[in-house]
Amino acid sequence: MRPVRALSVASEIYPIIKTGGLADVTGALPIALKAEGIETRTLLPGYPAAISALEKAEQVLAWRDFFGGPARLLSGSCGALDLLVLDAPHLFGRPGNPYLSPEGVDWPDNGLRFAALAGTAADIGLGGVPSFVPDVVHAHDWQAGLTPAYLHYSGQPRPGTILTVHNLAFQGRFPQQMLREIGLPPDSFTMAGVEYYGDIGFLKAGLQFADRITTVSPTYAVEIQGDEGGMGLGGLLRARSGQLQGILNGIDIDVWNPAADGDISSSFSLDDPDGRLANKVALQRRFGLQPNNEAILLGVISRLSWQKGLDLLIECIPALLDEGMQLAVLGSGDAELEDKFRAAAKANAGQIGVLIGYDEKLAHLIQAGADALVVPSRFEPCGLTQLCALRYGAVPIVSRVGGLEDTIHDFDETDSDQATGFKFGPVTTENLAAALRRANALFRNKAAWKKIQMNGMSTDVSWRSRASQYARLYREIAGSGH
Ligand code: ADP
Ligand code: GLC
Repeated sequence: MRPVRALSVASEIYPIIKTGGLADVTGALPIALKAEGIETRTLLPGYPAAISALEKAEQVLAWRDFFGGPARLLSGSCGALDLLVLDAPHLFGRPGNPYLSPEGVDWPDNGLRFAALAGTAADIGLGGVPSFVPDVVHAHDWQAGLTPAYLHYSGQPRPGTILTVHNLAFQGRFPQQMLREIGLPPDSFTMAGVEYYGDIGFLKAGLQFADRITTVSPTYAVEIQGDEGGMGLGGLLRARSGQLQGILNGIDIDVWNPAADGDISSSFSLDDPDGRLANKVALQRRFGLQPNNEAILLGVISRLSWQKGLDLLIECIPALLDEGMQLAVLGSGDAELEDKFRAAAKANAGQIGVLIGYDEKLAHLIQAGADALVVPSRFEPCGLTQLCALRYGAVPIVSRVGGLEDTIHDFDETDSDQATGFKFGPVTTENLAAALRRANALFRNKAAWKKIQMNGMSTDVSWRSRASQYARLYREIAGSGH
C-alpha cells in the first residue's frame, strides 16, 4: 500500500506536554500508525518544553511578522515522534500549563495563539514545507479546530481533513472582532461558516469544514448528537452524522506495562499476578492507609472537575467507611473539590488518603496496587484511566457514559468470562454507592474477584486495532481531490 503522509495538529503531546488524555492519544497514535504505513508528523506549539525536547532541530520556515511577532517553524524529533514545532516566543514562550497563566486563568490571547497554530497547519497542508506535503491533516480539539476552515477558505487544492473531538465541553469561543486579525475572510462569519452564537467558534469551524469528524468512542458519538450531550453543537453534529464516527482510544502498552514498569514496587503480569500484593502494600503505606489486605482499596486518578463526578464519591464516603473500604485519591483541579478531599482524608486517616497534585509515577502505583479504580464521570468521551486499570488488574467501577460504557463489561450483565468491572447509571450518589457495594461483595469472593481481574488483564487495550480504523479513514480521504 502507498504510504500516506499525515499532519497531526495538537496542543499537547505525551511525553512533552500533557494536561490530560489528549496528550496520551496524540503521543501514541502516530507510533501505532507507523505499522499501518502512515507517516505522521505532529505540529505542536513551541512551548519551552517543546523547544527543549526537540532533537535534530532544523528551521524549515521563518516569518518576520507572524501574528504579531517573529516566528519560525522547526522540524525535528523527540524519540519516535516526528515533530514540527511552531517557535513563536511572543505566543508560546511561556512555561507551565499550555492554556493557563500562573494565576490559573486562560491566557487572554488564547484565540490568537491557537489560530496561529491552525493557520500554520493549513500552510503546511497547502505545501508550505516542500519536504513534507501531507495527504491528510488531522486536527485535535478546539485548539486545532480552525485548520479545516483555513484550508477551506484558501480556495486551493488541499489535503483531506479530519477533526477529532476529545471533549466537546471545550469549544474555543472568541469575539467576532478577531476575524480580521486571525486572517479569516469577512464572509466566513455566517452560520454556515465559523460563526457560533455571535462569536467565532474554533471547534464549530472544525466541525463545519472537516471532511470527517471522529470522536473517541462510539457511545460518545451518539451522545454528542443529543441536545444535552451536544452542548450547543448537537444540531450541527446531527446534520453531519454521515461524516461522524466514534473510534475508541487505546493506551500505549509499553508505557503501561505491569511486567516492566519502573514506577511500581513489584512487577506482575497475567501469567504471574501475585506481584500485585506488594504494590497494594506500598500504596497503603504511601497514602497512610492501614496495612490491611482484607479491605478493598479503591483508587482514583483524575482531574478534579465537574465532568469527573467525584463530588458524588465524596457524598459516598459515609457508605464507603461503613463498608470498611479504603480510598486513595490522586487528583488536582477544582479548589473546592481539592479541599473536600483533603478534609475527608484528615477526618478519616488510615481509611482515606488523598494526594492533591499531578504525579505520573504515582498514577502507575495506584493502577498496580488498587483493587478497583473508580471513574464516576458525568460524561466521558473515552477515558483512559479505566483502560490502564484493565491492564493492571484494578477492576474499574464506572458510570454508564461515553467510552466507559463501551470499554467495561458489567459483572451482573455479562457472563463470567466477559465481565471486567461494574457500571452504574444514571449518575447519582445512590447508584455509585450501590456499585461500590456490589464490588465490595464480589471482592470477598477471592476466586470470582481474581476472575474479573484476569478478564480485564487479558482485554486488548492497545492501539493496534484502533489505529487501523484511523488508517482506513486516512486512506479514504487522502488524495480524493479536494
Ligand atoms: P481526561 O483527559 O478527561 O483528563 P483521560 O482518562 O482520558 O481523562 O486521561 C487522563 C490522563 O491523565 C491519564 O493518562 C491519567 O493517568 C492522567 N492523570 C489524570 N490526573 C492525574 C494526576 N493527578 N496525576 C497523574 N496523572 C493523572
Ligand atoms: C478528553 C476526554 C477523555 C478522553 C481524552 C482523550 O480529555 O475527557 O475522555 O479519553 O480526551 O481522547
